[in-house]
Amino acid sequence: MRHLLQYFFLLFLIPTISFTIIPAVHSLCTKDQQLSLLHLKQSLTPYHHKPYSPLNSTKVMYWDSRTDCCFWDGVTCSSDGHVVGLDLSGETIGTGIGYRSPIPSAIGNLTSLRYLDLSNSNFTGSIPKTMGNLKQLVYLNLSSNMLNGPIDSIQWENLVNLIDLRLYDNLLGGSIPSSIFALPILQFLLFSHNQFSGQLHEFSDASSSYLLSLDLSSNNLEGLIPTSIFNFHALESLNLSSNNFSAFPFNGPQQLKNLNEIDLSYNSLLIFYNGTTSSYSSFPNIVRLNLTSNKLRTIPDFLRYQSGLLKLDLSQNQIQGMIPKWIWGLDLFSLNLSCNSLATLEGPVPNFTLVEVDLHSNQLQGPLPTIPSNGGYVDYSRNHFSSSIPFDIGECYFLSLSSNTLHGIIPRSICNARDVQVIDLSNNSLTGVIPKCLSAMPYLVVLNLRGNNLTGRISNLEFGEGCHLSTLDLGENQIKGQFPKSLANCKDLEFLNLRNNQIKDAFPCLLMNMTSYLRVLSLRSNQFYGGIGCPNTNDTWPNLQIIDLAHNNLSGEIPATFLTTWQSMMADVHEKVNVLEFSQPGGGIFVGFSFGDAVTVISKGSERYLVKIITSYTLIDFSCNKFSGSIPKEMGAFKSLYSSPWTCH
Ligand SMILES: *[C@@H]1O[C@H](CO)[C@@H](O)[C@H](O)[C@H]1NC(C)=O
Ligand SMILES: *[C@@H]1O[C@H](CO)[C@@H](O)[C@H](O)[C@H]1NC(C)=O
Ligand SMILES: *[C@@H]1O[C@H](CO)[C@@H](O)[C@H](O)[C@H]1NC(C)=O
Ligand SMILES: *[C@@H]1O[C@H](CO)[C@@H](O)[C@H](O)[C@H]1NC(C)=O
Ligand SMILES: *[C@@H]1O[C@H](CO)[C@@H](O)[C@H](O)[C@H]1NC(C)=O
Ligand SMILES: *[C@@H]1O[C@H](CO)[C@@H](O)[C@H](O)[C@H]1NC(C)=O
Ligand SMILES: *[C@@H]1O[C@H](CO)[C@@H](O)[C@H](O)[C@H]1NC(C)=O
Ligand SMILES: *[C@@H]1O[C@H](CO)[C@@H](O)[C@H](O)[C@H]1NC(C)=O
Ligand SMILES: *[C@@H]1O[C@H](CO)[C@@H](O)[C@H](O)[C@H]1NC(C)=O
Ligand SMILES: *[C@@H]1O[C@H](CO)[C@@H](O)[C@H](O)[C@H]1NC(C)=O
Ligand SMILES: *[C@@H]1O[C@H](CO)[C@@H](O)[C@H](O)[C@H]1NC(C)=O
Ligand SMILES: *[C@@H]1O[C@H](CO)[C@@H](O)[C@H](O)[C@H]1NC(C)=O
Repeated sequence: MRHLLQYFFLLFLIPTISFTIIPAVHSLCTKDQQLSLLHLKQSLTPYHHKPYSPLNSTKVMYWDSRTDCCFWDGVTCSSDGHVVGLDLSGETIGTGIGYRSPIPSAIGNLTSLRYLDLSNSNFTGSIPKTMGNLKQLVYLNLSSNMLNGPIDSIQWENLVNLIDLRLYDNLLGGSIPSSIFALPILQFLLFSHNQFSGQLHEFSDASSSYLLSLDLSSNNLEGLIPTSIFNFHALESLNLSSNNFSAFPFNGPQQLKNLNEIDLSYNSLLIFYNGTTSSYSSFPNIVRLNLTSNKLRTIPDFLRYQSGLLKLDLSQNQIQGMIPKWIWGLDLFSLNLSCNSLATLEGPVPNFTLVEVDLHSNQLQGPLPTIPSNGGYVDYSRNHFSSSIPFDIGECYFLSLSSNTLHGIIPRSICNARDVQVIDLSNNSLTGVIPKCLSAMPYLVVLNLRGNNLTGRISNLEFGEGCHLSTLDLGENQIKGQFPKSLANCKDLEFLNLRNNQIKDAFPCLLMNMTSYLRVLSLRSNQFYGGIGCPNTNDTWPNLQIIDLAHNNLSGEIPATFLTTWQSMMADVHEKVNVLEFSQPGGGIFVGFSFGDAVTVISKGSERYLVKIITSYTLIDFSCNKFSGSIPKEMGAFKSLYSSPWTCH
């Protein structure tokens, strides 16, 4: 809406643009246009190129000299019979069987063209020089081809009518000609995913620019981003991600009032404007700022005046020192400061309203900051926080406080987060019992309480009928009691670790009765006793990779059938990709925890959590029990046997 006026202005300025609004009237194609198109067809016909194969396309191959070229598929004419539009996008030019065509230089004869779309057609070679003849061009789309080589032999300065230029997703290289940035009415310049290199020069003549969207991401550009970028006063979105830029002029001479999205992630930005105390900002209206994976050493001070900012990502930098108090007052939706070297929080931290807050992998000390009451994704893991868990946990769906030095009990109020899917409190010094209500959380997928000092009886947990648990890790605690029968309700269980506790029970045959997604089972170092043969069960664990029953009091024979069915271990595990998916939106980076050599990663991908267990690793450990009889010969079929069931280590 806000550019409406500007569009009218442009329409007024360049009457030619109106062809996209008033449908072109077909009339008799002029002779020279027909010839030019036939010439183009001929150049595309692979008799000229090896290996020979017939032209196979949905449009060009049907161009027939006996019909009016204005009626040919992909061709649009003006009322006076000139070809003004050519859309050959997604054409299977060539057959795709090894044949690829360059863009014929004959394209340069169609000098009336205003719209040219050759995207996604497997064109190769360099962009023909004759492209510079197409002075009427308004839209040019050559994206998603295999075009290569430099583009500076084209006289871009001729294309004064160009509004939209898309060259993204090719193999184009060399420097980006300055003349492109000087095109007078260009609005979209989308050059991402190429191999453009070198430095950007000062953007001359840009002060009259209409550029709205500049995307140079995923190239090999480097050096300073010129201050004259502030000449692009209409700019709304800027993406310079995944290059090797070293500095960005955050202290611009002018304001870019329309700029709302800046992505500078994955560069080498180091030098930074850390500002004065003035409330002046060069970008008064940024909504999203992404600086992940750079070399910043401080939190840029100018951010404190960004009242419209919603998403801020400063993760994976080298930021040291203190998280300033003002950051909580920005009223952000999402804040990511993870993977830095931050040491303290400027206190007292006020109650804040972030929905996603990620502080993991820093060196933060002292009490845990507030868990926002409307928080969705909260990750404070891998720091040195040393308080107890606050009573007020809020409503998050992802909560990780793992690998800190938290003490005290797990408050029952944690169950107020009704929609929680992931709770990871592992590797702390928590004591007391596991709140029973945790086993009844309806949407819980991952519960990891490993490596604490939790006590009480595990048999008190009552997993409900609708249990969705995929990962349950209570290992390395001091939990007693009998194996909870209600775990039979958790039919999606993949990862069960109870190692190093004091659980005393017969071998839990009920695990054999569950629809078995089970990959990892560790009951190591408990007090399980008796035989492991399970009558009346299906004993199939087709996905099992790791079973560790060592250091218990198990006895009797190891049933051969028990083993033959563990197909996963016997298969060539290297060929499998075991990625387990769970639905729930998130966004950002992952927390991970390891189990022996198996790794479980809970990733907040854009659409789902991923839980990965390294598939090339299998383990059977039955050692330090009281098994009798001979080694079942079936065991020889296992690819990687960690240790013999009879040796104690
Ligand atoms: C042309 O391409 C289509 C789609 O790629 C394919 O199905 C068809 O067999 C091809 N025809 C010839 C003659 O190669
Ligand atoms: C482009 O080439 C690749 C590989 O030869 C082929 O798989 C693909 O189908 C082709 N695409 C088009 C649009 O012809
Ligand atoms: C078109 O361009 C090609 C190469 O640029 C040239 O050889 C040819 O004579 C031109 N004329 C026509 C009608 O195709
Ligand atoms: C190519 O870009 C033009 C604008 O320049 C756009 O209208 C068209 O949809 C794009 N084509 C494809 C296949 O995305
Ligand atoms: C910027 O470009 C990168 C790589 O091309 C892409 O992954 C990212 O989503 C883009 N950022 C925005 C904000 O669109
Ligand atoms: C990026 O630039 C820095 C200097 O700013 C240089 O040391 C480094 O090697 C460059 N990295 C790549 C991948 O080109
Ligand atoms: C900006 O940061 C640098 C390095 O941390 C420091 O030397 C300089 O004094 C700071 N400038 C201002 C204006 O704070
Ligand atoms: C920043 O960019 C990275 C990589 O493109 C992406 O994963 C992340 O979600 C982005 N952050 C924001 C806040 O958009
Ligand atoms: C934060 O919220 C809690 C309860 O919601 C309240 O008890 C506390 O006083 C608040 N703290 C501040 C600094 O507002
Ligand atoms: C658990 O408690 C014992 C005894 O109080 C202590 O020695 C040990 O360090 C604690 N373990 C953890 C992980 O806190
Ligand atoms: C397994 O299921 C069968 C059939 O439902 C039942 O008879 C048997 O008792 C179950 N075994 C165990 C150990 O739960
Ligand atoms: C065993 O598997 C069969 C078929 O796969 C199924 O019908 C039966 O219910 C299963 N029994 C138990 C005890 O799970």
